[in-house]
Amino acid sequence: MSIWLIIPLIVLGLLLIVALWDVTQKKHAILRAFPVVGHIRYWLESIGPELRQYVVADNSEERPFSRDQRRWVYASAKSQNPYFGFGTESKLDSTQHLIIRHSPFPFQAEEPNPQSIVPAAKVIGEWNNRPGAFRPQSIVNISAMSFGSLSGPAVEAINRGVKIAGCMQNTGEGGISKHHRHGGDLIYQLGTGYFGARGSDGRFSMETLMETVTSAPVKMIEIKLSQGAKPGLGGVLPGAKVTQEVAEARGVPVGITVASPSSHREFESIPTMIDFIERIADATGLPVGIKSAVGNEAFWPELALQMKARGAGPDFITIDGGEGGTGAAPLVFSDHVALPFRAGFAQVFRAFAQAEMDKNVTFIGAGKVGFPGEALLALGLGADMVYVAREAMMAIGCIQAQRCHTGHCPTGIATHNKWFVRSLDPTDKSARLANYVISLRHGLLDLAHACGESHPCLVTGSAIALLGTGHLTDPLWERYNYDPSWMSVSDGFRKDVGEFMVKAATNEAA
Ligand SMILES: Cc1cc2nc3c(=O)[nH]c(=O)nc-3n(C[C@H](O)[C@H](O)[C@H](O)COP(=O)(O)O)c2cc1C
Repeated sequence: MSIWLIIPLIVLGLLLIVALWDVTQKKHAILRAFPVVGHIRYWLESIGPELRQYVVADNSEERPFSRDQRRWVYASAKSQNPYFGFGTESKLDSTQHLIIRHSPFPFQAEEPNPQSIVPAAKVIGEWNNRPGAFRPQSIVNISAMSFGSLSGPAVEAINRGVKIAGCMQNTGEGGISKHHRHGGDLIYQLGTGYFGARGSDGRFSMETLMETVTSAPVKMIEIKLSQGAKPGLGGVLPGAKVTQEVAEARGVPVGITVASPSSHREFESIPTMIDFIERIADATGLPVGIKSAVGNEAFWPELALQMKARGAGPDFITIDGGEGGTGAAPLVFSDHVALPFRAGFAQVFRAFAQAEMDKNVTFIGAGKVGFPGEALLALGLGADMVYVAREAMMAIGCIQAQRCHTGHCPTGIATHNKWFVRSLDPTDKSARLANYVISLRHGLLDLAHACGESHPCLVTGSAIALLGTGHLTDPLWERYNYDPSWMSVSDGFRKDVGEFMVKAATNEAA
């Protein structure tokens, strides 16, 4: 029989088997009613995100990140031309649109700054006299993403990349793995599971914490109260995912399911939280801060007042917006629990400014702030530094497939599937991560200079505005009920910042 007859017969046979299976199965009504052709509907549904991403959605429509935003990250990371031609596609008359009021007399830097080094304007831990107080050399750092939610090569690419860019990588709550040990500075995160700092009973152990933080270049410790995408929710890591490597980093037995409770067992109130922070800071000498999304309103003024009364407490506060990312979370938590970044951050900053405590704490903002305009807005609201997570993932190749929760991330970033992971080359991707961070700092510097300032933290509320109705622009401080005096910058501070920027440009540690 001719091959041209055999092939159609085989195809027909296979289709018949599928049709038989479809009409006899009871799980899918569509397939029972429309054998064979019903599969097309499921297939189209499964590739819906890609269809919308590449075919249907326009350049600014996609969420969480638009095609324009992703293109800017990809081009920056690959050192390609990140410019856009012809003019803006944004609707400049839509309310809430960010407007930056440039100066007629832009700032002209005297020294070239090829790595766009922008140190933080504050010294973290200075107010509490921590022995390890330091001025971060980059106002852009990589936000918490654990080894577990990210693959080993992804964590390694980020670690090598932060070393090149001179910034820091937050470990996330999964402990410090071997992939975090490629020379990049770390922020060690302590979640409710105390991974990397737990005794055999699963409780917090200061001895293990000391071993962990002295084994790697840890610059500061972040105690996680919550994250924007799933605040107030614990987590479970199934035994199947607790491989030898994961178990080592987390300090848990291989193959056994581990739970992160929804709250800390070491403290249950503001005073006991401050005690815990002070115990860790005393033992390690490092600055210790907290990370939280913003929900309960009363917590923040109370925290500021108690810190002021005791002269103790967090050296830094990270505020994550409800729009923040996650490896996996229930939709209702991502959509409805916690305030979005701008509103949440402003509430916390107001509480600290009213208590005259804002100058003593370093504020870090997170939640889609990895673009020059959004980052400047965060700084204008009072943040001293910004964190980027998903933007960093995009820099190392994430295509926003939104499959992090399935274990099938096609780019090898948020998966442990051996086939996908092998395609991610950490050395190549580390350069991309560094290029992206440097581009973001470069964009921030360009904006600061356009506003007549040497450093983005000097661009305060009145230079940043949001479009209101009828083309009226509201200064940021007015929109968020800030007292204008909170935003004022003294001549002395401006001079200090100008001086350390000159040092930074010439690569002297500021
Ligand atoms: C894959 C992934 C894993 C994350 N893991 C953690 C974590 O372990 N701890 C934490 O505090 N936040 C975690 N986050 C939240 C980020 O640190 C960050 O706060 C949030 O995504 C907002 O930043 P972005 O908008 O730049 O992504 C994770 C986010 C992602 C996307």
